[in-house]
Amino acid sequence: MNTIYLVGAGPGDPDLLTVKAHRLLAAADAVLYDRLVSPEILACANPNAELHYVGKEEGEQETAQRRILELMALCARRHRSVVRLKGGDPMVFGRGAEEWLWLAARGIAVEIVPGISSAIAAPSLHGIPLTLRGVARSFAVITGQAEGGMTESWEAYAPVDTLVILMGVKHRARIAAALIAAGRPPGQPVAFVERASTPRQRCVESTLAEVARGETQVEPPAVFIAGQVVAHRVTARRRVLSADLRVA
Ligand SMILES: C[S@@+](CC[C@H](N)C(=O)[O-])C[C@H]1O[C@@H](n2cnc3c(N)ncnc32)[C@H](O)[C@@H]1O
Repeated sequence: MNTIYLVGAGPGDPDLLTVKAHRLLAAADAVLYDRLVSPEILACANPNAELHYVGKEEGEQETAQRRILELMALCARRHRSVVRLKGGDPMVFGRGAEEWLWLAARGIAVEIVPGISSAIAAPSLHGIPLTLRGVARSFAVITGQAEGGMTESWEAYAPVDTLVILMGVKHRARIAAALIAAGRPPGQPVAFVERASTPRQRCVESTLAEVARGETQVEPPAVFIAGQVVAHRVTARRRVLSADLRVA
C-alpha cells in the first residue's frame, strides 16, 4: 500500500537523523520538504526521488498549507513511498497532526517518524541543561508566534523553571517584557541558540531585561531559552561547582 511517512529531520545535522528517517529517505520515491530542512539532509535522499520544496512564506500560511495537502495526496496516488520531511519533530509546531488527520480522512496510509526537536537539541548542543538537580525541575516549550501576532498570555508559564520558546525571535522584546510582567526576575539569564547543529550555530546570551530593552541582536531560526539553567551552561573550561552536583 502506498504510504506517506511524516518524518522528523531533526535540527539540521544529518548525523542527528534517526536511523529510520535515513533509511526511508534513501528509498523514497518522492520527498516534500520544508524551509528548515538542511541541504545536507536532502543529500541523503534517493537520487532518483522527486523533490518538492514546500516551504511557506509569511502571510501565505493557509493557502500554502492547502497546496501542500493536495500535493501530498497526489504523490500518494503516484508513489509507493512518499516522505514528508519536516524540521525537528513533525508534532512540535509542525502541523504534523493536522496533515496526518487530513490524509487519513482520505484513506491514505500514514506513518509517523519522530525527529529530534530543536526545542531539545538547541539548548543541549550549547551545553544548557533544560533540567538540573537543585536548579530546574520543569520546562515548557512555547510558541512565540500565535495567529496574528505574539502569544499573549505568559502568566501560565511564569512558574515553570525553564522556558523554551520557538518562533520567538521577531517578538523577543515583547515576550521578555511580558515574562517580567508575569513575575520572572528581570536579571534572569536567557540564551538564543541560532541555527543549532549547523556549521553556523551561534549563541547570544543576555538577560530578560536586556532583551526587553531591545538590546539583543539575534537572527532566526533560533531557540530562545529563559531560566537559571542558562547560567549553568556546561563548557569544557567551566569549573564544576559543588552546587552543580547537589542532589535535589
Ligand atoms: C515552525 S517551528 C518548527 C519546530 C520543529 N518542528 C522542531 O521540532 O524543531 C520553527 C522554529 O523552530 C526553531 N528551530 C528549528 N530549527 C532550528 C535550529 N536548527 N536552530 C535553532 N532553532 C531552530 C526556531 O525557533 C524556528 O522558528
